[in-house]
Amino acid sequence: MNVCELFQNMSLSENTVLIFFCNGKRVTDEKVDPSMTLLSYLRLKLRLTGSKLGCGEGGCGACTVMISSYDRLTKKITNISANACLTPICQVHMMAVTTVEGIGSIKEGLHPVQERIAKAHGSQCGFCTPGIVMSMYTLLRNNHQPTMTDIEDTFQGNLCRCTGYRPILEGYRTFTKDYVSDGSADKNCCQMKGNLKCCTDDGLNDGTPQSSKSNCCQMRNTEKRQEGVQSCTDENQCCMISNGKRQISTILFQPSEFTAYDPTKEIIFPPELILMLEKEDPQLVKFEGNGLTWIRPVTIDQLSAVRSQFPNSKLVSGNTEVGVDIKLKKMHYPMLVSVANVAELNTIGLCETGVNIGASVTLSRIEDFLKDAMGQIPDYQCKGFAAVVDMLHWFSGQQIRNVAGIGGNIITGSPISDLNPILMAAGCTLAFADTKGVHRSLQIAEHFFTGYRQNAMKPNETLVSIHIPYTKKTEHIKAFKQAHRRDDDIAIVNAAFRVDLHDGVVHDSSMAFGGMAPTTKMAKQTMNKIVGRIWDQSLFDDVIASLANEMSLEPGAPGGMTEYRQSLVLSFFFKFYLRLNQEIPNKNIPKVSPSETSATFPFKRDEVKSTQMFQEVANDQPPIDPVGRPLVHLSAYQQATGEAIYVDDMIPFQNELYMAVVFSQKAHAQIKCVDATAALSMRGVHAFIDHRDVPGSNLIGDIIQDEELFATDKVTCIGQYIGAIVADDKEIAQRAARMVQVEYQDLEPIISIEDAIEKESYFEPVRMETGNMTNGFESSDKIIEGEMRIGEQEHFYLETQSCIAVPKQEEDFIEVFSATQDLRLAQITIANALGVKYHKVNVRTKRLGGAFGGKETQSCNLSAALAIAAKKVGRPVRCMLDRDEDMTSTGTRHAFLGRYKVGFSNDGKIQALKIYLYCNSGNSMDLSPVVMDLALWQLQNAYYIPNMDAYGYCCKTNIPSNTAFRALGRPSALLIMENLMNEISYSIGVSQNMVRELNFLKEEQMTCYNQTVDDVHLVKRCWDECLLKSDYTERQSKVANFNRSNRWKKRGLSIIPLLYGVGFPAIQMDKAGAFVIIYQDGSVLLSHGGVEMGQGLYTKMIQVASRTLKIPSDQIYTEETSTNKVPNTSPTAGSVSSDINGMAVKIACEKLYQRLEPYRRQEPDKTWSDWVAAAYMDRVSLFATGFYKTPSKGFDYRTRTGEPFYYFSSGAAVSEVEIDCLTGDHVVLRTDIVMDVGDSINPAIDIGQIEGGFIQGYGLFTLEEYRWSPSGELLTKGPGFYKIPSFTDIPVEFNVSLLDGVPHTKVVCSSKAIGEPPLLLAGSVFLAIKEAILASRKDCGIEGSFRLDSPATAERIRMACSNTFTEKFPPAVPGQFTPFFIRS
Ligand SMILES: Cc1cc2nc3c(=O)[nH]c(=O)nc-3n(C[C@H](O)[C@H](O)[C@H](O)COP(=O)(O)OP(=O)(O)OC[C@H]3O[C@@H](n4cnc5c(N)ncnc54)[C@H](O)[C@@H]3O)c2cc1C
Ligand code: FES
Ligand code: FES
Repeated sequence: MNVCELFQNMSLSENTVLIFFCNGKRVTDEKVDPSMTLLSYLRLKLRLTGSKLGCGEGGCGACTVMISSYDRLTKKITNISANACLTPICQVHMMAVTTVEGIGSIKEGLHPVQERIAKAHGSQCGFCTPGIVMSMYTLLRNNHQPTMTDIEDTFQGNLCRCTGYRPILEGYRTFTKDYVSDGSADKNCCQMKGNLKCCTDDGLNDGTPQSSKSNCCQMRNTEKRQEGVQSCTDENQCCMISNGKRQISTILFQPSEFTAYDPTKEIIFPPELILMLEKEDPQLVKFEGNGLTWIRPVTIDQLSAVRSQFPNSKLVSGNTEVGVDIKLKKMHYPMLVSVANVAELNTIGLCETGVNIGASVTLSRIEDFLKDAMGQIPDYQCKGFAAVVDMLHWFSGQQIRNVAGIGGNIITGSPISDLNPILMAAGCTLAFADTKGVHRSLQIAEHFFTGYRQNAMKPNETLVSIHIPYTKKTEHIKAFKQAHRRDDDIAIVNAAFRVDLHDGVVHDSSMAFGGMAPTTKMAKQTMNKIVGRIWDQSLFDDVIASLANEMSLEPGAPGGMTEYRQSLVLSFFFKFYLRLNQEIPNKNIPKVSPSETSATFPFKRDEVKSTQMFQEVANDQPPIDPVGRPLVHLSAYQQATGEAIYVDDMIPFQNELYMAVVFSQKAHAQIKCVDATAALSMRGVHAFIDHRDVPGSNLIGDIIQDEELFATDKVTCIGQYIGAIVADDKEIAQRAARMVQVEYQDLEPIISIEDAIEKESYFEPVRMETGNMTNGFESSDKIIEGEMRIGEQEHFYLETQSCIAVPKQEEDFIEVFSATQDLRLAQITIANALGVKYHKVNVRTKRLGGAFGGKETQSCNLSAALAIAAKKVGRPVRCMLDRDEDMTSTGTRHAFLGRYKVGFSNDGKIQALKIYLYCNSGNSMDLSPVVMDLALWQLQNAYYIPNMDAYGYCCKTNIPSNTAFRALGRPSALLIMENLMNEISYSIGVSQNMVRELNFLKEEQMTCYNQTVDDVHLVKRCWDECLLKSDYTERQSKVANFNRSNRWKKRGLSIIPLLYGVGFPAIQMDKAGAFVIIYQDGSVLLSHGGVEMGQGLYTKMIQVASRTLKIPSDQIYTEETSTNKVPNTSPTAGSVSSDINGMAVKIACEKLYQRLEPYRRQEPDKTWSDWVAAAYMDRVSLFATGFYKTPSKGFDYRTRTGEPFYYFSSGAAVSEVEIDCLTGDHVVLRTDIVMDVGDSINPAIDIGQIEGGFIQGYGLFTLEEYRWSPSGELLTKGPGFYKIPSFTDIPVEFNVSLLDGVPHTKVVCSSKAIGEPPLLLAGSVFLAIKEAILASRKDCGIEGSFRLDSPATAERIRMACSNTFTEKFPPAVPGQFTPFFIRS
């Protein structure tokens, strides 16, 4: 049969009708567009918007769905979690897809997976929630009673930016085998009995904070438990009663209220689909449309036939590489041939010499198969398999491993492939078949990879299978990987080593490295050198010297971090050497000394554990009053079922169009010409807009208007808006936007702070001065000078910037649905751009999928551009930025540089501090002056600095304007100060804690900005409780012991205090409004100026209204925030939104309550609805406004005098870390936080803010790093390269306590602000890391202080743990080479 006949037989001339099942319903599409992903199909075609687009590149998990398939031969159903954003729609042909909408809903009832994440407070903004729900759901479908480890593994591919993960894990712990079989881990605890008595107290009422007593039930999760202390004895003296009045609780949710999980109730695989699949053999399918042909052969013969016919077709398997290329690199393949279902490429089995793995076998299947095989064949044969299995654990997340094929990894040929080094070291062979059926095999050795992402496979060949040989008794293989983040991250360097040792003599060896060259590289010279030599110290020394030479990198080599990467090569070999020495019982093999064994400890993380302690409401508080109770976030159920609507989930308006922005590709350039002709000629394109279309002002900005909405003749950063295309849909708009030709003339850019200092490129500098510097330094015994850098931080809200502008038919009115935290600013920016009065613009916001400051000023550019577009075309226009567009075009938290000189006494008392703070503001002012002021005010933190001279310089550079980010400049300032405290303690040899305590601010002392702090004693209270609760002193000696006995792992322990000023220094912002309506039936509609962005504001405001009106909270509803209900609002920012909006709500509700008073008095036995009805009949107004302004003095920016803050909150945190001195890896072993929130309005929400804020701060100080090309291009624009903390980055033990008995009379319901302050406490992790590095350096004989910049990445930690390996690679001299990347 010739190819044409074969094709006719395969009916390739006709398109297949796409059939799949979604949530049990059949979907049939005769004209499917094969370029669509499953996610776009679900969202746009099926209008199932529960699955979210967080990144589009497999890195966040927000799009996770379950895909089920049926194998007619084995009759087996397979359920996998997968990223819908990377799954081609055609790939799910004849499969069943389950989305978050398919498993439960508010109307039909929530699935237990949805219910538990909601009730356990595991959903804040909710944008990540559907993806997390579906990962967990798929796990349960495959394993009804998972372990905690299974749960943590299942979430490797999911990110959440709000919660800090702890509540999600705790909620889902209730599904685990341990939990279910035990009934409850804590079933014997008094706290579970609800009797308000503690079962474990020692009966001593000695004033010690009770929960810190050694035998307290609350200590059950700490080391005390290991010591056998399990229960209290005297129920009369409960340690959990605060001040003898209000109980301390540890229970934020009641598992007993959860619906039991019954696997038999799960929806089944569609029987109709089984029948269809049983009817005939799987068929070749073809789909064609929108310029793409997608073919899925099912046998190798079909594959060969297709490829002969279409030699230029592109093979695709899991699409995790190809999909990313299409999405991010904008690659276009006219024909894709899927090998995912080719039977011959899907087999896996053992043979006499090893395992044969079909090229399309997914990584998850390989992992399962090899684990199984390892239980069946002798250990010595499986060392190669073990290396693969170990590595697969650190290979991406489960959603990727479930679909990615091994062939895809090999053929991609990425220099940082995790598998290729092992396959090369293990001597694997690859089997290929060409289109004529000719087979050949090749060893996967260095010559296989011929260049960057190139290999020796011929164009007409397909990789069929991979053979991994068994290892011989004498062979040993191990692999290593170091990434920026442990879970779901590509390697910085990876390595695999194999030696064949005969009686201690090297018979053969291979060493393969990833991340050291454009291809996976073997160390040939070193390998050859050691053959025939004894495996001993001298061999080790020679290998180290040889590898240092053979694996050397030029400064500026692609990938950067050259000294670190070279050090890793040596460290990995060192680990391999020691591991073998440990494992091989041979007299010729050197023994490993006990302290060196720490180099070989594999990474191990205990099961996460935690406590949350808060004060219960008073016994006599009416049950109807929800204030102080851990009410579930009011949108949590909708968020968990996917029913919560975010901007881009809104049903399209009639005639709606889509806008794609044309971004500047140059950091600093003159625009010579913009030509949109080609773009405008495309079908489906309606308009191109630029500055000429702006009828009003093209200048935008909050403090000053110094930013152009659309660049006119010059661009000042990459990502700046030059224009925009309006088209029928997103795909056309984006394609057309790429066709707009912009001609630039380059100008020299300024990227970094250092550049800006050199060129004196600043906005107006500020200065804060107190005391007398000359006297201060003269009275100092010691002076230290130094500098520290703190990097920027990307907001990484899961929902990117999004907006819909809807011009109204009448007059100039426009309605804008914007994901903004500052409706007022959005309104006036739009109105000014349109040149209309403010009342012609209504901005509406329902909820945000996270914001953290990034949607304050920076949401306005998109809203205003859309408004211009909508006006021009006279139709509604929508845009949601892609993740890479969002990260390229919006700013971040400012990077800071601090240059300091501090004078202090011999005992550590600070006498004087002179400091220059520089921040990188980017190309416009935005909120930089506020950021800098807050940094200057935060510098002193909780300390008294009698003489201080501080300068603040906001550097003007050519990166996108940096902006507000949770706590603004304060975390950076705090870290500089706390680092200084450590430096002082190192310099005088006094403990850090003594230095800190000695410098604590006292009540009678003023801050450097001349404000007194009423309740400054609360800092000391938090500090003391934190020390006690964390067993600080005892653990300090344990850490010291650990460090003495372990050379290559070190621990560090650190505590920091926090004093945080609350309130908008600009007094005009310290106000809020509310508008409350009571309808005839008694239901209440509550509106205020605050935006719900996950922080639980709407929930808290309803709690306040409920208390004030004395009605149940379910009678009150908040629909949205809009400028036509409550005008002139302040941004939802600065942690004060509950404070100010809460007071406004209270005032409005009090008015209404008073109006109903006569009816209540007249008929006290009647109900709320009756009183409302009676008032209605009496023509009483049933709506009221509330307006509140704080009585604070405010700060006068002109004279730089006044009081910037209304009040202060306090806290303290202790963190303990363990670092790997050879790789720079670290783990946070434990964190204890004590935080003052006054009387919490909602402890679950407040604790959620503490944990989420802390983990965000942890990311800032340890993990998250922006890298720029020297020409100003952002290189880390997506979750693939920018790493926020993931599930397994949180402290292994995470304890949070709210300070009890501290009602705060200045604020609504005696509460205090909480959104921002806890983020700063993550500084404790940074300083604990610094302590651990200090211990490592001591072992190398290096004493005293050293510079450690933030974030404390693996690279920085490793290079600071200086040893003989790192000394081989001294830093290259700046200026003598072009760095691969720079920091801003
Ligand atoms: C979020 C994310 C995380 C990742 N993490 C990691 C990681 O930790 N470590 C790592 O090494 N990689 C990682 N990757 C890269 C990628 O997932 C892997 O390389 C994966 O194994 C590719 O498999 P695939 O089946 O999806 O390949 P595809 O994208 O389908 O194809 C990749 C390439 O292989 C070719 N190809 C596929 N099958 C064949 C065949 N049988 N014969 C010939 N050519 C073929 C294709 O034409 C294409 O060029 C990650 C990717 C993503 C998106
Ligand atoms: S949207 Fe699919 S993984 Fe992020
Ligand atoms: S709740 Fe997870 S990202 Fe907001």
